[in-house]
Amino acid sequence: MKPADTTDHIDSTDMATPTYTPQLQAFQQVVESRRSVRRFTDTPIPDAVLADCLRLAMLAPNSSNLQPWEFYVIDSAAKRELAVKNCMGQNAAKTAARLIAVVARTDNWHEHAQQVLREYPIQPVPKKVKSYYTQAVTMDFIRGPVNALSVAKWSAAQVFRRVKGPIKSPYYTFDDVKNWATNNTALGAENLMLALRAHGFDSCPMGGFDEPAMKDLLNLSDGHHIVMMIGAGERADNGIYHSQFRFDQQQLVHYV
Ligand SMILES: Cc1cc2nc3c(=O)[nH]c(=O)nc-3n(C[C@H](O)[C@H](O)[C@H](O)COP(=O)(O)O)c2cc1C
Repeated sequence: MKPADTTDHIDSTDMATPTYTPQLQAFQQVVESRRSVRRFTDTPIPDAVLADCLRLAMLAPNSSNLQPWEFYVIDSAAKRELAVKNCMGQNAAKTAARLIAVVARTDNWHEHAQQVLREYPIQPVPKKVKSYYTQAVTMDFIRGPVNALSVAKWSAAQVFRRVKGPIKSPYYTFDDVKNWATNNTALGAENLMLALRAHGFDSCPMGGFDEPAMKDLLNLSDGHHIVMMIGAGERADNGIYHSQFRFDQQQLVHYV
């Protein structure tokens, strides 16, 4: 299968293998030096750098490649002032060179399934792929008015599970779809923050914001959900409040 266009440029001699890890140290440095930075300097993030970070964000894995994320870079001064207010005036928003709303969409899975088929790297699209995006994806997401189809979907899944074995539960409620979109979008957000770090910039993810007010400000509909706000810029000397710490692996990692 032809590799995706976005990774075509990767030289196979640079490709890590279990016994050849040329980028490991750089990767460790990027991950280990990423911190939530609450104060930034006045240094701007060049548009080209931000564009590359957003490109890398969008290379995050996402379910069925439906890409339910969007990124709103709040550059208008008027909107920016209100957005900072909606972030409860947090320093990470106030001092950020760029402020970005990371948004999950619950309403465009069908449109995106069609777009995947249009842009699929193999044309004509293989039959199996076409039926996956037209039938399987639809069955997974469709709920009908007031979830009318969800009861039938639930019953069918129970029967399938009992008769044939494991089946991934389809989405029954709006909250199921919202969880799906949010999971995917959060992976994009992490890629974005690591990309900023690799470019020498920093970030702070923020859940502390007024979502309804922010959605009003950005003219977002009921199908848009702001997963987090990200303040980004060059870290200031006093931008980190304390050293990084995490709980022990033994507490949180389970080999079963
Ligand atoms: C979903 C999410 C929401 C967060 N919200 C805020 C926030 O509103 N304000 C803030 O200063 N930090 C916020 N943080 C940053 C965390 O406090 C920070 O990631 C954590 O303390 C670990 O520190 P580190 O990122 O420097 O490793 C948030 C992080 C995440 C992932």
